[in-house]
Amino acid sequence: MSVLRFAIAESNCLRLLEEQVNITVIGAGYVGLITAAGLAETGHRVICVDDDLGKIQLLNAGGMPFYEPGLENLVKRSRAAKRLEFIARIEDALAQGEVIFICVGTPPLENGEADLSSVELVARRISACARGYHLVIEKSTVPVQTGRRLQKHFSIYGDNSQAHYDIASNPEFLREGSGVEDFFHPDRIVVGVDSEKAAALLEEVYKPVLEQNFLCPIHENCGKRPHVPFVVTDINSAELIKHASNSFLSMKISFINMIADLCEAVGADAGKVAEAIGMDSRIGGSFLRPGIGFGGSCFPKDLQAFVRVGQSAGCDFTLLREVERINQRRIDLFVAKVRNELWVVRGKRIGVWGLAFKPRTDDVRSAPALAIIRRLAAEGAQVRAYDPHAMEKAKAQIPEIEYCADAYAAAEGADAVLALTEWDEFLRLDLKKVRQIMARPLIFDGRNMFSCAAMAEHGFEYVDIGSASEARKQVLGR
Ligand code: UDX
Repeated sequence: MSVLRFAIAESNCLRLLEEQVNITVIGAGYVGLITAAGLAETGHRVICVDDDLGKIQLLNAGGMPFYEPGLENLVKRSRAAKRLEFIARIEDALAQGEVIFICVGTPPLENGEADLSSVELVARRISACARGYHLVIEKSTVPVQTGRRLQKHFSIYGDNSQAHYDIASNPEFLREGSGVEDFFHPDRIVVGVDSEKAAALLEEVYKPVLEQNFLCPIHENCGKRPHVPFVVTDINSAELIKHASNSFLSMKISFINMIADLCEAVGADAGKVAEAIGMDSRIGGSFLRPGIGFGGSCFPKDLQAFVRVGQSAGCDFTLLREVERINQRRIDLFVAKVRNELWVVRGKRIGVWGLAFKPRTDDVRSAPALAIIRRLAAEGAQVRAYDPHAMEKAKAQIPEIEYCADAYAAAEGADAVLALTEWDEFLRLDLKKVRQIMARPLIFDGRNMFSCAAMAEHGFEYVDIGSASEARKQVLGR
């Protein structure tokens, strides 16, 4: 962003806010860091706390704990403007502000339930030192009724002569890889509250975003945008909205993957099917891309947690179990396709393009690519992988395979290449060169990122998801 825009942004931020709110954000992961930097950018004074001292030192040294487009700049700017600081002790932050966002991790327990121990620990530390009024906001993804538990916790452990609390839920819907954009241009902001005071305070906190009244740090010519809907409801409903949203999106993906299997069996084109059903405004075209399944730190764990929530409430959530099962089977089906074409996997050289669970992130948590690599390596394949950003994190999980400097090196002498994350850079590859350096021009496209026609034109054997060999044969003229 140019110096002038920065100066204007600077003045804008302060002028925009009738009231600068002092905010504490606990947890500097994806949700916490993007929320902290976003709120600071809109003019609030934010202290971001994380008990991982190494992470705090990295952030205070200007480093970033993960790759997220646009975030580093945002953090740098608000730190320079003294609107954002990073510390390691909750107790030091609480004195400064009444608004506290809890953004700690809620990873799955063995049985799939959400592990809320970090949320509870934060609540303990708050109740041990809070004074005066505090609005404690759950922003981590939590099962329904967690807010009720927090209220009970503060009534038991809080010193009510010294402090009084409001609890609220404010679920986050940001996507990794476009988290900064999603913060500034959300589809809606949902808050679950028990008091008007809490609703009013949250409206004040999000005012610039709700009114889309800020100098956009993402788009050069952002232009005037409609106000963002502010959905105010009770805490239980707000908590449910998050789990339900992620489960519905996961269901859409498993649905189109189910359809893709049928298309392969009967000779149809899942891409066309998805396009046409998505034109129905009641269905919508997004999240209908067939592939090797959904991964990441959210969908798999939120689905598991939601199934457990349904179960413990005595509700039949078989539908979501099926969504999970279809997703897990994507790996089996894809590996079977590779095995079928290669005949014998042992000793084959397999190149892999993409390790992250999706593009624009270095995150490999529950990445389908890693599950596929583990299977093929276990069958004796020699795997050589490349990813623009996620190799360090993949190496930590699968140190035994080879990591290459670029996509060409991964394809060098390969009996097959597996395209597993749809990074834009793979679409700019010189396919003629790839054809020349591979031992066998066989490409498995797990994200349908390439065009069948382009692959045929370059003489590749091309296997994508959801278009049956008949359809492919037609395109390939065989
Ligand atoms: C998701 C939700 O989108 C976001 O609102 C929530 O806050 C957190 O969880 P994220 O995990 O970053 O965000 O990834 P998303 O872009 O939703 O993709 C999830 C997975 O679904 C990825 O593995 C992606 O490759 C896969 N996917 C997505 C498909 O297979 N097909 C699609 O059509 C869309």
